[in-house]
Amino acid sequence: MNLTLKVWRQKNAEAKGELVSYQADHVSPDMSFLEMLDVVNEGLIKKGDDPIHFDHDCREGICGSCSLHINGRPHGPKQGITTCQLHMRSFNDKDTIVIEPWRAEGFPVIKDLATDRSAFDRIQAAGGFISVNTGGVPDANVIPIPKVIADEAFNSATCIGCGACVAACKNASAMLFVSAKVSQLALLPQGQPERYRRVQAMVAQMDAEGFGSCTNTGACEAECPKEISITNIARMNRDYFTAKLFKSEE
Ligand code: FES
Repeated sequence: MNLTLKVWRQKNAEAKGELVSYQADHVSPDMSFLEMLDVVNEGLIKKGDDPIHFDHDCREGICGSCSLHINGRPHGPKQGITTCQLHMRSFNDKDTIVIEPWRAEGFPVIKDLATDRSAFDRIQAAGGFISVNTGGVPDANVIPIPKVIADEAFNSATCIGCGACVAACKNASAMLFVSAKVSQLALLPQGQPERYRRVQAMVAQMDAEGFGSCTNTGACEAECPKEISITNIARMNRDYFTAKLFKSEE
């Protein structure tokens, strides 16, 4: 496959960025999207040019590092996968592919396609944990949890914090991410003691980081590579209002 890439190049957070065209020839349909970029970068390095900066780590859809806006969609044209799981067979010979970073005030560009997503770490640190003395390792069945609840908590916990929800949302809202992190603990017995303190702290940090509000467009759910449901947002809102109205001392 021979492709034309239009890649966002930006020296740093302050610099003005622009789309720069590159030719990617002899691309194998079996390459992953990131492998294709690796090959383009090898060519740039050989010519003495600055390679394209992009985030990646596991390349297995686990870590949430990869974060490319491909032809206007977070993680590209396929449903339920990350950029690192996207293969070039999803494109056609002679295609033009536009590659941009996540666009959100809360995710400033570091360089080219790499953005600073440490805002998510700060939200998580504000309350996404349980403070208990766990002691020794308890038996798996000591606290019985109904299967349906365990499954729901697990589904919320599959959020990899990539930020595609923010990138997909016209308001740059982080509510799908935050609600998944709130829900995975709010659903389980271990999360109850700090449930209402947690949701208030995480929402306050989310607001402080400059993310927008949810207006229920559902774009986050549609583009989430882990298909996290927006019912998590409803649960978080319910907990937040309950906390504000009845649990102010917690
Ligand atoms: S590089 Fe880890 S999820 Fe893509």
